[in-house]
Amino acid sequence: MNDPLRLTVLGTGYLGITHAACMASLGFDVLGVDIDTRKVDQLNAGQLPIYEPGLRELLRSGLDSGRLAFTTSYPQAAAFGDVHFICTGTPPQPGGDHADLTQVNGCVAALAPLLDRPCLIVGKSTVPVGTARRLAAELAAACPGAELAWNPEFLREGSAVADALTPDRIVAGIMSPWAEGILRQVYAGQIVDGTPLFVTDLETAELAKVAANAYLATKVSFINAMAEVCEAAGGNVYALSQILGADARIGSAFLRPGLGFGGGCLPKDIRAFIARVTDLGVGQALGFLREVDSINLRRRTRAADLAGELTGGHLTDVPVCVLGAAFKPGSDDVRDSPALDVAQILHGMGAQVTVYDPAALANARRTYPELRYATTLAEAARDACVVLVLTEWAEFAELRPGDLATLVAQRNIVDGRNVLDSELWRAAGWNYRALGVALTSPVPAAVSLFAAGEPRTVRPK
Ligand code: UDX
Repeated sequence: MNDPLRLTVLGTGYLGITHAACMASLGFDVLGVDIDTRKVDQLNAGQLPIYEPGLRELLRSGLDSGRLAFTTSYPQAAAFGDVHFICTGTPPQPGGDHADLTQVNGCVAALAPLLDRPCLIVGKSTVPVGTARRLAAELAAACPGAELAWNPEFLREGSAVADALTPDRIVAGIMSPWAEGILRQVYAGQIVDGTPLFVTDLETAELAKVAANAYLATKVSFINAMAEVCEAAGGNVYALSQILGADARIGSAFLRPGLGFGGGCLPKDIRAFIARVTDLGVGQALGFLREVDSINLRRRTRAADLAGELTGGHLTDVPVCVLGAAFKPGSDDVRDSPALDVAQILHGMGAQVTVYDPAALANARRTYPELRYATTLAEAARDACVVLVLTEWAEFAELRPGDLATLVAQRNIVDGRNVLDSELWRAAGWNYRALGVALTSPVPAAVSLFAAGEPRTVRPK
């Protein structure tokens, strides 16, 4: 083996680009591999095909330093790498919930016959439990000197670089002390800095990722279930969420109510997890995740219904402004975007929907060509009878009632992410509705947080 280790990263999606650029920034020589020639050319030219804060700079400095390059050649990758990271996507199978492992299987099948010296193949992709054990057997048959390990990645879009460089934990699913030693070398910097390393079997490592995502999704849906209760009972879920979050046993992370979770991971991962455990004969164990999914989807129809309530019960031919297309701020990803799903529902109800987003317009246009798009917020809001804030970009959170008052046809606003000051908007003559806040509730949507030096009292009005 080379010292320091030389790494390849198979797959140049979100995960692959981030991992490759971060590893190069830590001083490793890294070769990124993808079968897509156009993407490889783009990356070698320093162009980032995704929106991710800080990643373009890291990509460029990796290329400039000569430590990072991209190729379509598997023979080159096999000759170069001591450690090969599988970072390909695992989307849902067409028409089903099971994960489609075509790309993961494909890169192992392409690489294995080319390996002629000891090396470690490390899976980072999110896979159904049992995949690693099967791949390990296939690899052992093709190349006895190669071994498999599983090392899931927990990065979030929008903070991918920081998450990859300073993770909360590193999980090493291994089959031998040798593999553990290699992973300790790869992550030496983070381990020295105090990042906990969990050394475990392949199955636990695979499960670590899907279980974490299932738990996060459950937490979001729990608070959104409370939102449904608040709407019926007269409470305010934003106050409730802060009160629950102040309990150290519960914690406030992932307890933000609103339009719920979306993106390329949580929704498809919980569905694939249910599908896998059903195959294992223990589907009952994850029955609750179906409800987690349902609660999440109900928020989207509820947001559309609120828009209908504000416009007098019907939306046919009603101009509607949707602010937000990305599944969350800081990203241009529209996969399973709650915002675009609501836009689609409104479109299906007959509304004339115009969508604006500061980063995700191109992806949204490609995915939902039937919707209208505006390139500025003002253009989207012009003549609208109702405005919906569906992704919490700062540009939307900073909106003041006066910014829109002269543009819209009617002063109706749905705050799907609870980012606006309800009192301010109501005082300016707007009909303001938020998810999880009963119409009868006099409580402002935001509960005052403790300012420095103030007595620790929260007094929802
Ligand atoms: C997630 C996991 O967090 C990450 O560890 C994993 O590697 C990939 O999947 P990501 O999809 O990038 O990351 O987004 P995340 O920040 O987790 O948010 C997911 C969704 O949940 C977003 O739509 C977000 O708006 C929503 N969300 C999050 C809430 O609705 N409420 C919250 O309190 C937190």
